[in-house]
Amino acid sequence: MSRNDLFLRVCRGEAVSRPPVWMMRQAGRYLPQYRAIRAQTDFLTLCKTPELACEVTLQPVDLIGVDAAIIFADILLPLEAMGCELRFEKGEGPVFPRPVRDRAAIDQLSRPDVDATLGYVFEALRQTRHALDSRPPERRVPLIGFAGTPWTLASYLVEGGISKSFAHLLGWTWRDPDGLTALLDRIAEVTIAYLRGQIAAGAEALQIFDTWGPLLDEARWRRMVMPSLMRILDAVGGTVPRIFYAKGAAHLLDSLAELPVEVLSVDWRQPLDTVRRRLSRDVVLQGNLDPTVLLAPEAVIRAATTELLEQGRGGGHVVNLGHGILPMTPPEHARVFVDTVKEIGDRYVG
Ligand code: CP3
Repeated sequence: MSRNDLFLRVCRGEAVSRPPVWMMRQAGRYLPQYRAIRAQTDFLTLCKTPELACEVTLQPVDLIGVDAAIIFADILLPLEAMGCELRFEKGEGPVFPRPVRDRAAIDQLSRPDVDATLGYVFEALRQTRHALDSRPPERRVPLIGFAGTPWTLASYLVEGGISKSFAHLLGWTWRDPDGLTALLDRIAEVTIAYLRGQIAAGAEALQIFDTWGPLLDEARWRRMVMPSLMRILDAVGGTVPRIFYAKGAAHLLDSLAELPVEVLSVDWRQPLDTVRRRLSRDVVLQGNLDPTVLLAPEAVIRAATTELLEQGRGGGHVVNLGHGILPMTPPEHARVFVDTVKEIGDRYVG
């Protein structure tokens, strides 16, 4: 084995000896080694310092043994590049002090040169690829780049941060859908250049996060989320595998099957075999362990992981969580999840 490429092989629909496994938010606060770096550095500075971003990207590869690395950054960074002030406040999450809520505010946004404004992410990708090349073969894993959908980025930018009701955003969809679409198109333009830059810098697969699209019913998801998303997916097609993640999207499966992606990543509210049966086309599935399972005793984690492998059988499966790993997760529990896949995964392929 010259490197561990299980993840890329499954994304491409090739046969493998066992399913690959990684975890959304795998570089993060559940790791004491991450918290040690964060004690010295605020979150945005960490994202913007390639040496540190590279170091935390590799932590779960070395400490937990995952089969893929995802570059350490945040989906909201391109909005900052467009001139929107972004802060991460302790206990509050992301804050946009000047939310965008009308066409006049859209006109104020800049059309950034991504090398000048987001080049630190590209540099972190280059350094991480280089560092991965000097790992032993089993830890020389593929590197994933990512972005959010314009809709999910807009949900933070329009609300000014995390929201319970999304009243400003959802109100805008009724009041002036074309105006909101103009905002989504502007975000899509930057996202396309940003993702192409990530590929050029060494990203070997791309994951697009649509955390908040499923707030909408299917007809309005197709009207508001899908057009700018399709432009992005088309623009990066044919280069690297595309993974689409939607949280709570069981009501959108017919539309998700139309997306030009190689992998669909779903949450835990429907078992993978049900999702596979309901989809109108063959596609590799990623997911979908409930992240709270990793708070349970080891025997429970083993049993749930075994059941997940069983449900993923009969089609390509990238084992993952259904959403990000929780900060309170004991790292040993994440290791039990990953080790279980490595130990018995060979029984669940083919
Ligand atoms: O997965 C990884 O390890 C790669 C890095 C990554 C982060 N955020 C780092 C991060 C990725 C892929 C994301 C995606 C992201 N960011 C999403 C989509 C997926 C999802 O979780 O639904 C969203 C919606 C965001 C926006 C965001 N960033 C929020 C809402 C928050 C605050 C909530 C929280 O978890 O603290 C963040 C902060 C953030 N992004 C942290 C990390 C490790 C925590 C920052 C810290 O260290 O304090």
